[in-house]
Amino acid sequence: MSKQYSFFETENTPQQTQEEKDKARLEFLKSELKRHNRLYHTFDNPEISDHEYDMLYKELVSLEEKYPALVTKDSPTQKIGGEVLPYLEKAKHRQRMYGLDNVFSQAEYEDFIQKGKNYFSKENTQKELSLATMDTWWADPKLDGLAAEIVYENGELVQALTRGDGEEGEVITSAVKTIRNVPQHLGHDLPFTRLEVRGEVLMLKRDFEALNKKQILLKQKTFANPRNAAAGTLRQLDTRITAERKLIFLAYNVGQVLIPGAADESGLTLWKTQQELMEALSKLGFAVSKESSLCHTANDAFSFCEKMEQIRDSLPYELDGVVYKLNSRLAQQVLDFTARSPRFAIAWKFSSRKAETLLKAITIQVGRTGVLTPVAELEPVSIGGVIVSRATLHNEEELRNLDVRVGDTVLVQRAGDVIPDILSVNLEKRPANAEEFVFPHECPVCHSKAVRYKGEVAWRCVNFDCPAQKVQGIIHFASKAGLDISGIGEKWIEKLVEIGRVQNIADLFTVTEKELLALEGMGDISAQKFVDSLKEAKENATLARFIASLGIRLVGEQTAKTLAQAFENIDELAHAAEDKLTLLPDIGPEVAGSIKQYFGSKKKQEILARLKEYGLDPQRQEKVIAADSVLTGKNILFTGTLSKPRQEFEKMAEDAGAKLLSAVSKNLNYLVVGEKAGSKLEKAQKLGVQTLTEQEFLDLLK
Ligand code: IVH
Repeated sequence: MSKQYSFFETENTPQQTQEEKDKARLEFLKSELKRHNRLYHTFDNPEISDHEYDMLYKELVSLEEKYPALVTKDSPTQKIGGEVLPYLEKAKHRQRMYGLDNVFSQAEYEDFIQKGKNYFSKENTQKELSLATMDTWWADPKLDGLAAEIVYENGELVQALTRGDGEEGEVITSAVKTIRNVPQHLGHDLPFTRLEVRGEVLMLKRDFEALNKKQILLKQKTFANPRNAAAGTLRQLDTRITAERKLIFLAYNVGQVLIPGAADESGLTLWKTQQELMEALSKLGFAVSKESSLCHTANDAFSFCEKMEQIRDSLPYELDGVVYKLNSRLAQQVLDFTARSPRFAIAWKFSSRKAETLLKAITIQVGRTGVLTPVAELEPVSIGGVIVSRATLHNEEELRNLDVRVGDTVLVQRAGDVIPDILSVNLEKRPANAEEFVFPHECPVCHSKAVRYKGEVAWRCVNFDCPAQKVQGIIHFASKAGLDISGIGEKWIEKLVEIGRVQNIADLFTVTEKELLALEGMGDISAQKFVDSLKEAKENATLARFIASLGIRLVGEQTAKTLAQAFENIDELAHAAEDKLTLLPDIGPEVAGSIKQYFGSKKKQEILARLKEYGLDPQRQEKVIAADSVLTGKNILFTGTLSKPRQEFEKMAEDAGAKLLSAVSKNLNYLVVGEKAGSKLEKAQKLGVQTLTEQEFLDLLK
């Protein structure tokens, strides 16, 4: 935590009692939390991490418990969320939208459960519910987005609101209508006349990354995280932009449920448990988290939290903890709410994955395409159980934006398997003599001059003979993004290059078991595996994987697939004219130029000729498609929500001979339009591309 949050300074007030100090601290926390609330909720621009916020909040709660007389109505503990934004229309929630209290440890969780049980025994005097009802909890991931309420009247979506301050939210109806997975109608013969569905609006991690890339290209502000991106998108007054930036909605609760003739307004007669409620929401067409589950014991609850923390990086969206809700909805009503949150639900927040540490040095790493990447060498620090000693600084621009210097104290973030990142510099801790880092414009390994291509941020070493590139290039060839040759570890590649035995990918295939065994630390089994896996790779390589494994600049897995469909084999690709290449979908002049440059190199030609000689020369895999198939030679693209997963439709189209494009262009023959299609549809109409409904597409196949 940075200095400004250290315990209140006492220098100017010499004889302060503990009570006075507490009170001053309490006032400070109140105003500080209010400020951070505004930054977070109203301006989508937080200054401190969620974890730091939670810690300040927790401290305020405990001070307020100590001095209940100081709890004022405007205290952040008595209010939730942000203020409503001035420029969006506002509307009152019929039922208040509460926030959740947090726990951070097993002990705190158990304490929460015990308090709940005590309260339950006190309130449930009629004993209509057994104490055992308090044992079953519904566990959900805690989604890190924005809470929203979507209102349906007679099955039609009529309004959507943000949480706002809990009492009153901003009207976001038209923005929510653009969210593809939000049903617009719930069907007929519904048991309720009004249903308020509550849940979280999110941006998937991959859509967030794509959005930021686009923002950079458009020279517009990027977003700090998917949550901020979702918030910014939802509050867009221009719903075309909202539609374009993909948001999703996951439901986790209901607000008011009006059933003709019933007094209860929570749908208790329809859904007795949280589990039943979630199943019903899912049946009504709402997306819900797939990970949720029922917990019967405290142990179940702990393992759920543990499991979620483990898989959190593999999920498509961000979560920051888990939420437990009492499964019995009747018991939920017994427990009721405190001034700020339910007694029947609690959030267990994951531990922070950010930490401060010292930046000891900045080194430059040379990648397989020669890109020079600055790397932060850190004082090792434990972040969420993993020791981190290096983080990427991405490129010169990022370095400059962060204004990071050797000797700085930096905030490091770790997220799963990806290389840790530096989020910010703690300027208060910067030593007086810290000097700006001068980015080298030569390769640190081979010392040849680095270049910076137009439109790229990266400096590159363009010397094909650079030993650093050689190693990285060979590692890439064998990696999952290439031929996926699992039997030859990076360590051995480095070694073989170091001793001069291997200079390029072709050399790999000439290494014998005997030679390998001469390397220190190499055993029989590993040596055999090394040779066998190369043999296997030769036999199993597909043309697409082979092309991807070569590490041609700008040619990733997707482009490699396109090329593998267009050419018979690597020879044909090598001799393709540049203008023929640019006719292919998604291949522009830059990519085509890079391909020509690669195959134009004498060295590469020699290597490819040798690979062919050794038996690595995959041929195009013919799809068995009748020449007269309805979609032969047609380009197609699917957009919007379809009745089945998009991949299924894509496969049908491909099987009928069509080629899938990834964007709308004049070359597109058909755009198949599902529900809530956005900008693609607009563009297709502009270009006069034929559009088909899902049914029309299916009819065409018949
Ligand atoms: S339930 C009465 N379930 O966390 C229950 N909230 O800090 C109220 N949130 O405003 C909320 N995932 O934005 C619930 N599975 C989940 C959630 C969840 C995320 C958010 C929600 C809420 C905030 C409370």
